[in-house]
Amino acid sequence: FFQAVASPPSSNFLLLGPSGAGKTAFTTLLEAKSSPASNKSHTTHTSQQSTLATATLPPTVPTASNRYRSDNDPSLKEAIRNPIRYRVRDTPGHGKLRVSQGLAELRAMALSKDIKTKLRGVLFMVDTAALVDESTLRDTATYLHDVLLVLQKRAKNGSSSKRTTEIPLLVAANKQDLFTALPPGAVKEKLEAEIDRIRQSKNKGLLDAAETEVEDEEEILANDDQETFSFKLLEFETGIKVEVVGGAVKGDQEEEFGSGVRRWEEWVGMCL
Ligand code: GTP
Repeated sequence: FFQAVASPPSSNFLLLGPSGAGKTAFTTLLEAKSSPASNKSHTTHTSQQSTLATATLPPTVPTASNRYRSDNDPSLKEAIRNPIRYRVRDTPGHGKLRVSQGLAELRAMALSKDIKTKLRGVLFMVDTAALVDESTLRDTATYLHDVLLVLQKRAKNGSSSKRTTEIPLLVAANKQDLFTALPPGAVKEKLEAEIDRIRQSKNKGLLDAAETEVEDEEEILANDDQETFSFKLLEFETGIKVEVVGGAVKGDQEEEFGSGVRRWEEWVGMCL
């Protein structure tokens, strides 16, 4: 009953990532966890339209403002009574729909000044069992590169006087329950190396086209094309934080495969 009268959540997260990564499965799980009574089920086949889900942060997950809270803190009781809710926009991952939906949604949300639609973070989901395939890796890294470029442009356009807070990105390394899954550390290395390649060939393309120096520096991710790309370099250059954290949507109920989605919820908590 308390949940029904609670004010609508004002924190928004955007869920991006290639087709089949597990985005719809994740949003369905979040909704089920937040209102176990409702039996809403989303289509598990390839999504064609983005959907908005409301999720509840488990009371035991700390937020940035209460991270030093102890277990017998009265605010924990309050959190149980009145849990923090947030919204997740699930977007279709199919290549043809990315520009018109995922990236368009990102641009609109990232630039919005309306506090009600403020974007707190981006979750970029990947299937860690599929990344051993070269073309899947390429496709995934290309999408991630384009997403980070949007965030970089936003970071650069924010006037330096009233510095905008940069939107952080979580690479949710999903399907860790599968024995063919790459561990998060390897996922990070592969994505960084592949983004580096994409960046190099893009830079070369721009140079060839202009036959001079690249004028539009913004177009190159993390600027310094002399240095190998890494998420650390991106953070240094732009302030955008990228974390790669493993988990499994499938394993969440069984508590069998590591921490399920718990560590992603902890990341969400730190954005609130
Ligand atoms: P699009 O809607 O096309 O963008 O894909 P999606 O990212 O929404 O993927 P979806 O949620 O439809 O999941 C794709 C498949 O992966 C489904 O069969 C899921 O059941 C499966 N899946 C999702 N998460 C996990 C997981 O943690 N482990 C395993 N083994 N399978 C998973």
